[in-house]
Amino acid sequence: MKFHEPKNLALLNSLIITGSYIMLFFLSVGIIFTGALSNIYAYITLIITSIVLFIITFFIFRYTLEKFIYSKIRLIYKSIHSVKTGKKEQPYNQQAGNLMDHVQKEVENWESEKQREIEQLNLLSQYRRDFVGNVAHELKTPLFNIQGYVSTLLDGGLEDPTINREYLKRTEKSIERLAKILEDLDEISQLESGHMKLKITRFNIVSLTREVTESLEMKAQKHEIQFVLNDPGKPLMVEGDKDKIRQVLTNIIDNSIRYGNQEIGRTKISFYDMGENFLVEVTDNGIGIDSGDLVRVFDRFYRTDRGRNATKKGKGLGLAIVKHIVEAHQQTINVRSTIGVGTTFGFTLKKAS
Ligand SMILES: Nc1ncnc2c1ncn2[C@@H]1O[C@H](COP(=O)(O)OP(=O)(O)OP(=O)(O)O)[C@@H](O)[C@H]1O
Ligand SMILES: [Mg+2]
Repeated sequence: MKFHEPKNLALLNSLIITGSYIMLFFLSVGIIFTGALSNIYAYITLIITSIVLFIITFFIFRYTLEKFIYSKIRLIYKSIHSVKTGKKEQPYNQQAGNLMDHVQKEVENWESEKQREIEQLNLLSQYRRDFVGNVAHELKTPLFNIQGYVSTLLDGGLEDPTINREYLKRTEKSIERLAKILEDLDEISQLESGHMKLKITRFNIVSLTREVTESLEMKAQKHEIQFVLNDPGKPLMVEGDKDKIRQVLTNIIDNSIRYGNQEIGRTKISFYDMGENFLVEVTDNGIGIDSGDLVRVFDRFYRTDRGRNATKKGKGLGLAIVKHIVEAHQQTINVRSTIGVGTTFGFTLKKAS
């Protein structure tokens, strides 16, 4: 029997009180019937009675106190449960038998739960700090460029025909870059908040891919990249938001040019029938991505060292947008790569019914 349990304590106290009163009752009856109130035994009886009464009072006091503490613990237990579950009432009576153990367990669980929440919040705030830092860093470069060109123009450059047009053109380019960063950020935040509604239609993914390669043809030629479209010879009809899928293809194919092989570059686009879906694969023979970087290339602002060395132009937002769009379509995207050999990005699209 555990005596620290309020229930067991209550039982013990009840036994003592009942026993004391039974004893007192028999003593009183004995004294009255023997008529021995005037002899020494009467005094002894009184002393014993006093001791018994003292014991009774002591235990009653103790019992009341225990009961008081017990009710307080019960209140704490109830409060913990209310906060934890968000409910007003809890069936704590079920566990009244081992309430103390239970309260301890609850507090421990609660503590580890709170600890986990704190860790998650710390992670989130770290992520926010990184994000704000990255945004600031990305905005800084074009902004400082604009500042520099405008100051030079104001300080007399405007009258200098050798630089005035050129500096205005560069300013325009930096403004375009700023606008593009903000556009991409806006797009990501809309996709993440789930506010972007997809306009699902049926379309031919092969002809959409051809449109995208044609729009990027000039850029590809500049980088000596050749497109190879593995045309299946028939339309492949899919369901999706055509404009968004155009953006997915543009971002991936644009990367294959940007990080492609600058000597004999080739970007191959293939289509595979996967049953319910079609798989679209874009393969380049470019610089490749380290295996450690593969999982991170879809993170906002993430750029590999190789990518950074290849070009200063990237913002690290293109693939984050791609992933959001593909996942908004309930489809998947994957990447495999070998350094110096090339990279393949593949994403699925639902076949039109
Ligand atoms: N085909 C590829 N080959 C090698 N590295 C790639 C390839 N595609 C992406 N990467 C790496 O992944 C990074 C992230 O790509 P992402 O498209 O998100 O950003 P970006 O191209 O740097 O900038 P932008 O936001 O303008 O597209 C790139 O910076 C590059 O390091
Ligand atoms: Mg890109």
